[in-house]
Amino acid sequence: MLALAPWAVVRARADDPPDPTSIRPQIGDHLVYFDGPNDGKPIRVADLELGGPQVQAYPADPKGLLRDNSRLNLIIVARVGEDGMSEETRANAAEGVVAYSGVCTHQSCPVNMWSVERKSFVCSCHGSIYDPKNDADILFGPAPRHLAALPLKSENGLLIVAGPFNRRLGGEKG
Ligand code: FES
Repeated sequence: MLALAPWAVVRARADDPPDPTSIRPQIGDHLVYFDGPNDGKPIRVADLELGGPQVQAYPADPKGLLRDNSRLNLIIVARVGEDGMSEETRANAAEGVVAYSGVCTHQSCPVNMWSVERKSFVCSCHGSIYDPKNDADILFGPAPRHLAALPLKSENGLLIVAGPFNRRLGGEKG
């Protein structure tokens, strides 16, 4: 049997395939609940409350391999309905459901709260508020950029990734 010395390291080689659990969402991936009673299950449009709040999700390949090995893959998903949606957001939505990066563009906190009054995503760290119906535009707070949108489609009621994130992920300091 081969014994490795305690200090032995295995370095990734340039031609190694990328780790499928940490690459960005791929076209055809499912969105899967990150926590709660449905943790690990695919998200169905019909299960989401119309009008919010968001749920947290990660992408998973069609066989169920979760891409949760990068915190930049955290996604927020909300069924906000199509009324009042901007054209850009409508193009990325599926059946009134939108998906965005769940990592705040200020200092990378998870965007894990919801404003009932403004029907908007809220980052609890410093209060940035993002408009889910208008490409996650910044309504309040220190966030410097919109959240990245993740294009969706629905297949048999399930939410499927239809394209890559549309802008840079994470906060100013990564
Ligand atoms: S990290 Fe979100 S507002 Fe500061």
